[in-house]
This record gives sequence, C-alpha cells and structure tokens, in this order.
Amino acid sequence: TDPVTLPDLLAMKQRGEKIASLTAYDASSAALQDEAGVELILVGDSLGNVIQGQPTTSSVTLDHMVYHTACVQRAARRALVLADLPFLSYCTPEQAVRSAARLIREGGAQMVKLEGGRERLGVVRFLAEQNVPVCGHLGLQPQAIHRLGRYALQGRDAESATRMIEDACLLAEAGAMLLVLECIPWELAQEITAAVEIPTIGIGAGRHCDGQVLVWQDMLGMSARRLRFCKDFLAGNAGVREAVSAYVREVKAGTFPGDEHSFGRDGP
Ligand code: KIV
Ligand code: NA
Repeated sequence: TDPVTLPDLLAMKQRGEKIASLTAYDASSAALQDEAGVELILVGDSLGNVIQGQPTTSSVTLDHMVYHTACVQRAARRALVLADLPFLSYCTPEQAVRSAARLIREGGAQMVKLEGGRERLGVVRFLAEQNVPVCGHLGLQPQAIHRLGRYALQGRDAESATRMIEDACLLAEAGAMLLVLECIPWELAQEITAAVEIPTIGIGAGRHCDGQVLVWQDMLGMSARRLRFCKDFLAGNAGVREAVSAYVREVKAGTFPGDEHSFGRDGP
C-alpha cells in the first residue's frame, strides 16, 4: 500500500472518512500501529510524561524529539509521521526552521506540530513558505502549563470559543495543513471542523473532528491517569494488536469517542 500523504488526509476529510492517529515513541509500537491502518503517527512531546516520567512536557528537548522520531520513522511504512516541535524550539521563524530541519532531516518526520494560535502566525507562514508541512494545535496547550496552572478544558466561554475559531482560520490561512484540537467542548470542535478546510484531529474534543488521536500508553490502559476522553482499548481485546485494530475500527465507524468521552459546553 502507498504511503499516506497530506493530500490523502485532506481527501479523507472531504469524503467524510475519519482519520485514525496515535502517538508513538518507539519502532515496535509504531510498527503495530502502521500495520493496523493508523494513518498518522504523532511523535508527541507527551514523551516527557509517558517515557521520561516528567510532570510536564517542558523538559523535552529537540535532541529527545529527534531521537524518538528516528525510532518511529524506521517502522512507519505507510503512516505519515508527525513530530512535535518541543517547548521553546520555535520562538522565531529562523529558530523554527532550524528545529524543523532537524526533525525532518535527522528524524525523518514528514510534518511538524506546534502549539498556539495567532501569536504563531509568523512562524507558521515562514515554515509553510519553506515547504515544511505544519500542524497547528489549539485548545489545551500542554507547553503553556506554567501559564495555565493546570490541565483543564479550554474554550468553554463564548469569548474564548470565538477566539479559538478565529485562530483556527488564521492558522489555516497562514498555511497550516492539519489542526489538533485538545480538550475543548465537542460543539466548539464541530464548529472549528466546519470552519476550516484542513482536517482537524481531536483529543478530548468529541466525535465531530475529522480524526482522532490518543496517547499510546493511555489507550492501552498503562497510564496512572484516568482521563474522561480516553478509553482502554486493551480491556476486552485479546492483545495489543487487537486493541489497535479496535481503535482504528471505532474511529472509522464514528463510535469512538462517545458522549461519555466528550465534554459539552454546558458540562459533561
Ligand atoms: O504530545 C502529544 O501527545 C500531543 C497529543 C496529545 C495531541 O500533542
Ligand atoms: Na504534544
């Protein structure tokens, strides 16, 4: 089968076919995901939490990201590999290009992700102009944890919701080709998904996104944290292979996430 491309993901949105995505940090996990039909593998800076045992992602360096991206990339035959630009690695357009160059050249990433809205437009535009595919990330932004104070649902009030819709449109106009939406009410995710032509990939953002992503350790029930938006796919399945296949099947069928995994504007 042919490798998944960005035009393929856009075509999936246009046809209404859901995109299945998971995080991976190593070759064994990436190979299982690739074989199960996951279209997009995210080497997330969540590796700070689930691999390194850190309380936040702030300690993750570009070297860490390059190393894990290279591990994943070797096993991803079909899936598109997306790597996170870590905290403080994209403060200026020039720094962002240097950082992205390492993820792409040394890590083998095909796309990079960065957190933030209108304040990142200069960086997004510059990367896009250099033909570096960019994925945006709105809603809960874990790299902003020291400002936010805690990991919480975002975009519940009208003002922040309107601002987020504007940010999504601005990112797409600036050249972003995908958009991750993390921990926002499903109604807002639905509005953003309708407002932009680029595919949206949700985590804790309800079933109306164009695709879904979960952290690998969370969907296998390995994490200590119990998250409303997550489901343990290993429970009720015979093994890891079966768990990943079940995830892909449920995302494609639109049965995951259900209401019990989603947040509503007026309370879960
Ligand atoms: O780092 C990560 O795993 C992420 C996802 C939660 C979207 O950014
Ligand atoms: Na991340």
